[in-house]
Amino acid sequence: MRLFICGFGTVGQGFAEVVASRKGFFEERFGEDVTIVGAMDSRSYVTSQDGLDPMSIVIGKAENGRVGPDGYDDPLAVLDSVDYDILVEVSPTDVKTGGTGLITIRHALECGKDVITVNKGPLALRFRELMDLAESKGCMLRFEGSVGGAMPIINLCRENLAGENIRSIRGIFNGTCNFILSKMDNGQPFEQALKEAQQMGYAETDPTNDIEGYDSACKVVILANSVFGRDVTFDDVEITGITSITEGAIALAKSRNMVIRLIGEVSDTKLSVGPRLIPRGHALGLSGTLNTAQINTDLAGPVTVQGRGAGRMETASAILSDLVAIMEARR
Ligand SMILES: NC(=O)c1ccc[n+]([C@@H]2O[C@H](COP(=O)([O-])OP(=O)(O)OC[C@H]3O[C@@H](n4cnc5c(N)ncnc54)[C@H](OP(=O)(O)O)[C@@H]3O)[C@@H](O)[C@H]2O)c1
Repeated sequence: MRLFICGFGTVGQGFAEVVASRKGFFEERFGEDVTIVGAMDSRSYVTSQDGLDPMSIVIGKAENGRVGPDGYDDPLAVLDSVDYDILVEVSPTDVKTGGTGLITIRHALECGKDVITVNKGPLALRFRELMDLAESKGCMLRFEGSVGGAMPIINLCRENLAGENIRSIRGIFNGTCNFILSKMDNGQPFEQALKEAQQMGYAETDPTNDIEGYDSACKVVILANSVFGRDVTFDDVEITGITSITEGAIALAKSRNMVIRLIGEVSDTKLSVGPRLIPRGHALGLSGTLNTAQINTDLAGPVTVQGRGAGRMETASAILSDLVAIMEARR
């Protein structure tokens, strides 16, 4: 199986390391190698039809700040310059336009390639179009890591819980907000908790996407479309972030043995992200940076999952699960 990795930052590098570390697993399970035939970052690329050494690309990126010596103007021409089976699309999320990710995913599918992505932008904006395109070309588009990072949820709902009537999903889909709210539980003001989140590397310098609820909203859209078969986009989500939660509101919740958490909710009729009162000790009242989701089904009842919503290896693990699924299906 030949991979092209588009985007070679935290997740792209983590995934290249996973490809190197699972060499024996692929050979044993599928009797074939997984090779990286191309990698691209924002300003350079490297390709080899014979396969590149994953660790050399990672080390080269760390040493030189770029994956290869050659620059490019047209990312699609770079993709077309080598023969690959799967595009692993891990460039930055752009929720306004879909960014380069939307362009490369669309192109790969049009060329009959399978795609794995964790990039929320293209999925939150053009889900139906991309899934229809994949189907018309007989290709797979998989995106487990786009919601909840390492926490299994999309494939769990679509594959393990297939046949269930999933009534709703409620969850914590943003570890940064949950870290801030957990700190506020202990009496820290919002600004101080945000500063601590930034110092610890949980929050970006511009934290708008997280604290205004936009990142959670993207995930809610992806779940609505992929699990509930809806046809919605980012603009359809009712979004309230956590910036207006006061210390008084937290104290009042505490006096009633509750906590406030930023909850994403999806069902056939609901699509929202907002602060909710959760009883202390409830699965959705979790503290810290983990993600969690409660899936309400008709046969199995409530199924709750929890895991690391972000991280180099954690997100790479979700990509690995999609890769294995594609290799199983193609066998
Ligand atoms: N980090 C996580 O834990 C996590 C979890 C779930 C989902 N995600 C999603 O995964 C994606 C990647 O995240 P990340 O943390 O790896 O981001 P990152 O560290 O910022 O890396 C982004 C990579 O994409 C490259 N890039 C930027 N513009 C590009 C373009 N136009 N064409 C090709 N490559 C381009 C960057 O190039 P340079 O190296 O040259 O700057 C960089 O290598 C994002 O969509 C993010 O939302 C991340």
